[in-house]
Amino acid sequence: MTRKTIGQQMGRSSWAEPWKIKMVEPLHMISRNERAVALEKAGFNTFLLRSEDVYIDLLTDSGTNAMSDRQWAGLMMGDEAYAGSRNFYHLEETIQEYYGYRYIVPTHQGRGAENILSHIAIKPGQYVCGNMYFTTTRLHQEINGGIFVDVIIDEAHDSQSLHPFKGNVDLSKVQKLIDEHGAQSIAYICLAATVNMAGGQPVSMQNARELHALCKRYGIKIFMDATRAVENAYFIQEREEGYAGKTLAQILKEFCSYTDGATMSAKKDSLANIGGWLAINEQGLYEEACNLVVVYEGLQTYGGMAGRDMEVLAIGIRESVQDSYMHSRIGQVRYLGELLTDWGIPITLPIGGHAVFLDATRFYPHISQEEFPAQTLAADLYLESGVRSMERGIVSAGRNKETGENYHPRLELTRLTIPRRVYTQAHMDIVAESVKKLFDTRNERKGLKMIYEPKYLRFFQARFERL
Ligand code: F0G
Repeated sequence: MTRKTIGQQMGRSSWAEPWKIKMVEPLHMISRNERAVALEKAGFNTFLLRSEDVYIDLLTDSGTNAMSDRQWAGLMMGDEAYAGSRNFYHLEETIQEYYGYRYIVPTHQGRGAENILSHIAIKPGQYVCGNMYFTTTRLHQEINGGIFVDVIIDEAHDSQSLHPFKGNVDLSKVQKLIDEHGAQSIAYICLAATVNMAGGQPVSMQNARELHALCKRYGIKIFMDATRAVENAYFIQEREEGYAGKTLAQILKEFCSYTDGATMSAKKDSLANIGGWLAINEQGLYEEACNLVVVYEGLQTYGGMAGRDMEVLAIGIRESVQDSYMHSRIGQVRYLGELLTDWGIPITLPIGGHAVFLDATRFYPHISQEEFPAQTLAADLYLESGVRSMERGIVSAGRNKETGENYHPRLELTRLTIPRRVYTQAHMDIVAESVKKLFDTRNERKGLKMIYEPKYLRFFQARFERL
């Protein structure tokens, strides 16, 4: 698909944003020499750069969303009562309306929900099946004695497979685990929609439906990672038979109906800067979650969020399911991805929901995985252009808890993550041109050596040196 066909493919002439800009924030770029100093100081880890030293910031789509005028107005409607804030009830109703779950526990962000769920739903030694791991999610599962098992389809580990739903669960992998160890050995299935580490790849409705049927037969629960489930709904609408005429809101609700609850990082899909929640349909489990939310997060009617944050979130959820908004969101990501593929730059295909992932293995074929090609690429891109990206490869994958060995993921990726409603098409052009410039000089680049490794989630704080 070329850039020119995007509009036709999507059944419209343009993916133009359904909003205009009311407030702007200046950008500035420091010199290459200054960036070299900043990078050195940051130990070649883009997480350790100061935001002021960054020109275009594509580190993450988490909490970096631009709010709407309605959300800013909502901030002023914050009810900052310790208990029973009206904003909580507004949020609760909104989640129930759009996601369809019964009980809602607010948390400060996604990992707060993951912590509580892992505590109450995993017995030590049980397996937790996931359609590929996510860093914080797997860590909480492991801290609580769970053993993570990857049950995503094999295509997800191949950056060039054009499977339209690379986030799908391979049901035969789940069945095999059940046959070998029994259903009671599985704590639950963690179903991520879309799959971040696979390149923002979606799960089909059919796959969710079939997984639900399988799990129901064995009494296994499914908890969704709903962080980018609205983006997932967009791909279902676009690609799956029978869904072109349905709204994102209808698709989202049906998808959630195949699951027993969800963890949510509201800093992504929901167009907020902070927040999260845990949703549970079963009353007994919800009561256990309520016992823990007061230990780790705050009272069950705020969970670490201010009243105004909950109001912003409730409004953001409504905005996130508008079809015209999501059309422009995915359109912008695809625009950047197609500029890069037009120039022969290797990226994960199909282009995913929240980011374009550079395939560092093919970008830097002369740098071995032990020399951190994706980390090197993120560092080099910042040095040469001021664009900040992040590593999603061997550094993010971490070590096996039992053996201490590095995991060697097949995907060694550098993520250009697009914040929602923040940058323009011209910014995307600059990013693409910056990547192209680096690509043209790729043979001169040298890899990195890790000189400091923290115990948990090492990608956030690890430090490197140039080889
Ligand atoms: N699940 C997924 C799929 C995520 O992408 C994230 C965060 C979380 C859970 C955890 O949520 O950050 O609110 O605690 N992802 C960010 C990222 C950090 O950049 O991909 P959190």
